[in-house]
Amino acid sequence: MAVTDAELFAAAEAVRAKAYAPYSRFSVGAAILADDGKIYVGCNIENAAYPVGNCAEPSAIAAMIAGGAKRIKRIYVTGPGSSPVTPCGGCRQRIREFADQDVVVISHGIDGAPLVQTIAQLLPYSFGPEYLPK
Ligand code: THU
Repeated sequence: MAVTDAELFAAAEAVRAKAYAPYSRFSVGAAILADDGKIYVGCNIENAAYPVGNCAEPSAIAAMIAGGAKRIKRIYVTGPGSSPVTPCGGCRQRIREFADQDVVVISHGIDGAPLVQTIAQLLPYSFGPEYLPK
């Protein structure tokens, strides 16, 4: 059975509840639907040495790769507030590595409406693996 956006949202919210964000108090959850049909999740993990904290999206990507999947088919990101919590610039590039241009990224500040964009819209004219010699 196909995974629905409601399921991805629920998975992102469930992992967001586990976020370690004592400094920003801005909890983020990410849920990836991968090419194996499974959902992989991640949350942000901050650090007392602020710059070495992890965003939610790379945490979910790490879970996907460790789980044996290869590609992102859809990704849902949730956070607090009414504005869509869009992936930061670095996270867009990290998603792009594992996603075709038309992969949908749903950004959702849970008090507002979700924003639905493709990775190409979020990161136009992007650099990727195909630019490098084999
Ligand atoms: N954050 C994410 O986890 N993903 C994003 O794409 C935006 C920002 C986290 C990083 C930090 O822990 C907190 O949100 C505030 O910036």
